[in-house]
Amino acid sequence: MPDFTELKQKHRTVWASGDYDQIARGIQAVADHVVRSGCIRTGERVLDIACGTGNTALMARARGAVVAGVDLTPELLAVARRRAADAGYSDITWIEGDAENLPLPDGGFGAVVSSCGLMFAPDQQKAANEVARVTSKDGRIAIQAWTREGGVGRMFKVTNEYIPPPSGVPSPFEWGDEAKVKWLLGSAFKDYQFERYDCPEFADTPEQVADSFIDRYGPTHRAYHSLKASLSTNLFNRTRCLGGPDDDRRYDIVMMDDFIYGEPQLLQ
Ligand SMILES: C[S@@+](CC[C@H](N)C(=O)[O-])C[C@H]1O[C@@H](n2cnc3c(N)ncnc32)[C@H](O)[C@@H]1O
Repeated sequence: MPDFTELKQKHRTVWASGDYDQIARGIQAVADHVVRSGCIRTGERVLDIACGTGNTALMARARGAVVAGVDLTPELLAVARRRAADAGYSDITWIEGDAENLPLPDGGFGAVVSSCGLMFAPDQQKAANEVARVTSKDGRIAIQAWTREGGVGRMFKVTNEYIPPPSGVPSPFEWGDEAKVKWLLGSAFKDYQFERYDCPEFADTPEQVADSFIDRYGPTHRAYHSLKASLSTNLFNRTRCLGGPDDDRRYDIVMMDDFIYGEPQLLQ
C-alpha cells in the first residue's frame, strides 16, 4: 500500500468541514443499533473507532461501559468532549489517532465498535488488523458501514463524478460488502454475522437530506464548495434528485438504506 500520510491530512480537513455533529445527531439510531447489537455491558472496556463527535461512544458509556473513542480529526473530538461533559461523563478517554495504527495495547477491549467510521481508513487491511489486535481474546466487534447501493453510497457516487477519488485507494463502501469484510478480518474472529437494514428516517424528504449533506457532511460539503459555481450547482441539483421519484430507492420513509456489521458472536 502507498503512504497515505498526505491523504489522511486531507481527510482531517474534509471531516472538519461542514458541521458533522449535526449529521451525527440525525443518525443516533445507527449508534444505538450498533451498541445494542454489540450487547455492550456495564463495566466492560469498549473502543469506538473513528468515533467522530462521539455518538456511539456516548451510548456505550450510557450503558455503563468503560469507554475510549479514537478519531483522526481533532475538531470532531473537541465536540465529542463537549458532548460528554454535557452528559456528565468525565471518564471517557478521547484519543486523536489513526484506525490503521491505534495507539492502544493488544487485546485491551472486550468490545470494539464503529459506526460509519472505520470504513474511511484508506488502508483497509491495516485497519482490519488493528481491530483484531485490540480486541481481547474473548471479545467481539460490532461494525457498521454504509453500503455502495444505499443512500450514502449513491451520494458518494455522484460526488465522485465531480471530484474523482484518489487512485489506488479502495472504496470505503467495500466495508459494506459482506464477502470483503470476511476477507479483511479473515480468521481473526470465530464467527461472523451480518445484517442489512435501513436507517430510520433522517429527514422528511430527499431534498432535505441533500441540503443537509451539502451544508454539513464534510465530503459532500467540501466537494460542493471546491467546485466552480456552475459545477457545484449541477452537483447540488443531482444530489437533490437522489431518492426522488425516478429513483428506485427513496429517502423519505427510510433513510440511508443498508448497513452491514458483525454482531457479538464474533468471538475470537
Ligand atoms: C462519518 S464520520 C463517523 C463518525 C461517528 N462514528 C458517527 O457515527 O457519527 C467518519 C469519521 O471517521 C473518521 N476517520 C476517517 N479516517 C480515519 C482514520 N484513518 N482513523 C480514525 N478515524 C478516521 C473521521 O474523522 C470521522 O470522524
